[in-house]
Amino acid sequence: MAGKENWSSKFGVILAVAGSAVGLGNFLRFPGQAVNNGGGAFMIPYIICFFVIGVPIAWCEWTMGRLGGRYGQNNGPGILYALWPRWPSKVVGAMTIMIPIGIYMYYVLLEAWCLDYCIEFFSGGFADLFANATAGAADYNAEVQAVVGATNEHWQTTFGMGENGILFREGGRTIWLVLTCFLVNFFIIYHGVTRGIEVFCKWAMPMLIACAVVILVRVLTLQGISSGLGFMWNPQWDKLGDWQVWLAAAGQIFFSLSVGFGLILCYSSYLRKDDDVVLTALSASSANEFCEVLLGGMIVIPTAFLFLGAANATGGTFGLGFITIPAIMKFMPGGNFFGGMWFGLLFLAAVTSSLSMLQPAIAFLEDAFGMGRRASVTVLGIITACGSGLVMFFSRGLVALDHTDFWCNLMMVVAATFQVLLFGWIIGAKRGVREMNRGSDLKLPNFMAVMIRYVTPAFLIIILVMWSIEKLPGKLQQLDPVAHGTATARGVYEAAIHDRYSESKLDEKAMKAKVVELLGPPERAIDSAALQPWLAEKGAQANEAREKAAGNATVSRFVFIGILALLGLLIALSDIGCRNRIGRVIKKAEQEGVQW
Ligand code: ALA
Repeated sequence: MAGKENWSSKFGVILAVAGSAVGLGNFLRFPGQAVNNGGGAFMIPYIICFFVIGVPIAWCEWTMGRLGGRYGQNNGPGILYALWPRWPSKVVGAMTIMIPIGIYMYYVLLEAWCLDYCIEFFSGGFADLFANATAGAADYNAEVQAVVGATNEHWQTTFGMGENGILFREGGRTIWLVLTCFLVNFFIIYHGVTRGIEVFCKWAMPMLIACAVVILVRVLTLQGISSGLGFMWNPQWDKLGDWQVWLAAAGQIFFSLSVGFGLILCYSSYLRKDDDVVLTALSASSANEFCEVLLGGMIVIPTAFLFLGAANATGGTFGLGFITIPAIMKFMPGGNFFGGMWFGLLFLAAVTSSLSMLQPAIAFLEDAFGMGRRASVTVLGIITACGSGLVMFFSRGLVALDHTDFWCNLMMVVAATFQVLLFGWIIGAKRGVREMNRGSDLKLPNFMAVMIRYVTPAFLIIILVMWSIEKLPGKLQQLDPVAHGTATARGVYEAAIHDRYSESKLDEKAMKAKVVELLGPPERAIDSAALQPWLAEKGAQANEAREKAAGNATVSRFVFIGILALLGLLIALSDIGCRNRIGRVIKKAEQEGVQW
């Protein structure tokens, strides 16, 4: 039995999957991760993770998706249930719907902001901002500070970072842009896989790569750019001993290749029985790496270092993307044009990714409940609009966005681990690799079966455990208003202690001891009456921070419960679907003799 639609060409499917992978993660997330985690040395864990987890998971997902398509399934729960009709398939299947729509809810906002910045550059809005900011600046350094300050302020306002609800009161322009992005995404999705996604990616991908190459040429011909390239890529070998660097590399591979999201599973279900998965997956992954390392890695940080100095060239994803890059454009010849082009290409990259985040849920609604395209698009439109609306409403400190991202990332690693275990142990790695090789010009050796059965799952489990140890306690604490408030207030006092003793050159251990001496142990509440006067002065600031943090924790808790509730609903729907329509279609396919 064939799926309802099929990709029209091999080139089309490669561009669609590459489009799904190439996104803001390549151009904004990767450079920040690389420079903060060892520069050139980061490439060692990064490449190892690419070959040990990235490509093998992609191959498993492609193969299982293609198989699921033969059972008439284009949705995660159906595909996994067809291969292993047990409850974990329904649960993880629900995750493969939840992860992409959860990510879509905030990703579409970033997309709108890229569109906003693109318009601002081309319409001269940023030129005016820079002119006003630098009027009266005495020298180059003062200009840099003024421009970075202005882009920072612009960013905070555009994102509504200061106050919850402000975007709904004062952000009319932002709301229009978000609505525009919703319309673009749903218009394309409405036209289906071949006439919508494939057609759009076929022109958007070459166009965005062409824009990136033009910008790269501009950057590489800047005088003195080699110092910036050195800053980005000179390896700090000592970082390799730090397991956080390895976690960062694994996280980057997951996010960037979109493995474990459920997207590949869905896209590959539209392949035909003998369509090549080995080379196609490899080509799409390689296209992603080209965009990430060569284009993403050569443009942002080197240019930021060149024009703004080292201190401004090492931010996180958002800082680099929405403060540093616009600031660079003030100093780069032709900056307004290149700035507009850069944010235009980011917008296209974001759309090709966000589209792919919608398709799994559309396929699920259609396959599990027999909904027509119009109904499925409407239902998903309403759900994602509510989610994005909440992320936009709780904009203070981007808390809702951050928590949505965190919990979806955790589910991603869980879903990927399950899929690899399913492939390696239930389907059977040897049988799976034989199926993977079907129709492929490049035959994978038996060694791949060993890799998928033992090496990749072991690596994934280690990552999951390390990640949980490293990040979970902090994130869970952020859900508790009292604990988070207390810890944040303590942080204010600690910062004051660090400031006061910064001259004394205390090492880390001595500084920690000093903090405990002055504030008491972390588990005990701070007795403000017992504080020394210079610390007690910080009381008002600490209280304000405590209140803000408690408020943020309430939002985080709300987001967490919302994600759990939506996941619960999806698990229930996945169960209903598998018992009814999905189950019937699978049975019919089996009766018709689907074999592999
Ligand atoms: N893979 C997509 C990106 O890198 C989600 O942005």
